[in-house]
Amino acid sequence: MRPISVAIDGPAGAGKSTVARQVAEHLHLTYVDTGAMYRAVTFEALRLDVDVTDEGAVARLAKHMDIALKPSKGEVDVFVNGRQVTRDIRTPEVTSHVSAVAGNPQVRKILVKKQREMGKNGGVVMDGRDIGTHVLPDAELKVFLTASIDERAQRRYEELVRKGYRVDWDQLKEEIRLRDEKDQNRKHSPLKPAEDAIHLDTTGRSVPEVVQAILELSRTKVGGGE
Ligand code: CDP
Ligand code: CDP
Repeated sequence: MRPISVAIDGPAGAGKSTVARQVAEHLHLTYVDTGAMYRAVTFEALRLDVDVTDEGAVARLAKHMDIALKPSKGEVDVFVNGRQVTRDIRTPEVTSHVSAVAGNPQVRKILVKKQREMGKNGGVVMDGRDIGTHVLPDAELKVFLTASIDERAQRRYEELVRKGYRVDWDQLKEEIRLRDEKDQNRKHSPLKPAEDAIHLDTTGRSVPEVVQAILELSRTKVGGGE
């Protein structure tokens, strides 16, 4: 029996990666963080001084990058051409340039091909912006996670403070709002729920509650059918 695939999309800070990773663990599926792949390309472009708005140059870079996602102690380590970049791809600098890279249709084509390859036999929980609509349109379960902008900003704020960054709450909230707006309005594969996605508003809900809700939904899909 082919294992199911779960697509989880939504705006920044909705809890996609935290929840997707735990759902994958419970269901013994492979977690694929597609945002990490766009971040990895962005990090490489910045590191090599490639202009992130130069579509051809960034696409050439992406084409020759080997991006590996490896589970490690409940987290996912990210490697580019064998070099560990797990922390490097989460800096505010990468976050502020990632929308330009994600809006590049040539880069999207290259990364979507890799993502479909990872999901071709089912058995993945994949999170991102276009998973249910474009990358895995046949996923058995599609979830669109949201939360209020204030709660999403607060979650990100706490996460950054925990990591030792000094952050201005209002500025962070504005950056998140702007990144969502760019993701929703870009021409290629914008952030939007698939028609058959189940919407889950996670405002005021804990991580375990959201994980349980998705696990319950997945029970109706086991084996790939209803
Ligand atoms: O974790 P966070 O919500 O900050 O973002 P992420 O999932 O790491 O994704 C970073 C950026 O990559 C997003 O803001 C999107 O611009 C882009 N992205 C995308 O376009 N398509 C995806 N499937 C995943 C991410
Ligand atoms: O991947 P995405 O940007 O959607 O969000 P995330 O990076 O998984 O979650 C951002 C933060 O919110 C993490 O520190 C989670 O622990 C937290 N979170 C939460 O407090 N309550 C939830 N229901 C989901 C996530």
